[in-house]
Amino acid sequence: MANIIVPPGWNLPEREATSPSVYWNRRRFIKGVGLSVAALGLGACASESRAGNGGSATEPEGPLDTIPDTPTRDLYPADRNETFQVERPLTDRIVAATYNNFYEFTTDKEAVWKNTGPFEARPWTVEVTGEVERPGTYDVAELEREFGLEERIYRFRCVEAWAMTVPWVGFPMHKLIRKVEPRSSARYVRFLSFDRPDQAVGQREQTHYNWPYYEGLRMDEAMNELTLATTGIFGEPLPKQHGAPIRLILPWKYGFKSPKSVDRIEFIRERPATFWSDFRPDEYGFYSNVNPEVDHPRWSQRTEEMIGEDVRRETLVHNGYGEWVADLYDRGVMSRIS
Ligand code: MTE
Repeated sequence: MANIIVPPGWNLPEREATSPSVYWNRRRFIKGVGLSVAALGLGACASESRAGNGGSATEPEGPLDTIPDTPTRDLYPADRNETFQVERPLTDRIVAATYNNFYEFTTDKEAVWKNTGPFEARPWTVEVTGEVERPGTYDVAELEREFGLEERIYRFRCVEAWAMTVPWVGFPMHKLIRKVEPRSSARYVRFLSFDRPDQAVGQREQTHYNWPYYEGLRMDEAMNELTLATTGIFGEPLPKQHGAPIRLILPWKYGFKSPKSVDRIEFIRERPATFWSDFRPDEYGFYSNVNPEVDHPRWSQRTEEMIGEDVRRETLVHNGYGEWVADLYDRGVMSRIS
């Protein structure tokens, strides 16, 4: 009985038995069984091809074979924090895992997962520097265990006007910030993603981008209860294409403010530049709060398309999270794309 897994609430109903989700999950299950049998007989050779186990030069077989092994596997699925509910259907798990923005791998959303094979997403450390009492190198698995994990269902909105609703897993960013004891001089936090052109073909070949990806927040934004240091999705550790092993999620901002696979956090005095606002200052700004009133030059922000559903919805100010964040901003911040 101990091995029976009780499916969490977001598992698919039977009627969707032919969906891509079920297809890929079934393939994954069959492959898992095959691998355990093979591992018994073939030893090291079989385990070498185990998907998701660190990096591999080969293309993953399915979009969920990109979940890296971790000693914190037992922390998943995490208990849901019921404060964060959304009155919308959840996005299909496979749709979310096969429609990604992660330019380090490719700009082709549907191919990101296929390019993540060589990326070694765990074990992983985050370096904390700058205006803090306790700078240092922090192991992500140790942080997961120390802080514990919770599940939160959030709306997620990309500036390209697509949206999804997914259960993220992680811990509030303020727990990590408190642990490293920022000084009063720390007014902003800068986040950097990895810089590994040898493991990420998009980083290697798209040299017109200023790698690594970098983002920033004001200290009060980083400390906000909504700001989630995210290590999982749909009850499992993050697949690489979603930003394994640790990324940010800020549900009231456009998705590009949520850097993936973060390996450096700097506490600084001045407002930092960001990857996108440096690349296209006329299109991207620092705050980038979701706002139907202010269009991006290329995408109207009035409505949003739910990926995997044939539905467009009205965009909500602050993506519907005003209760948590509206008082952080004045009218000036909300009146422009910045
Ligand atoms: N982080 C890094 N390092 N590189 C990226 O290209 N894209 C951003 C954000 N974080 C990006 C990133 C954008 S534009 C979006 S919309 C979200 O990741 C997409 O997250 P998802 O693929 O998990 O849905």
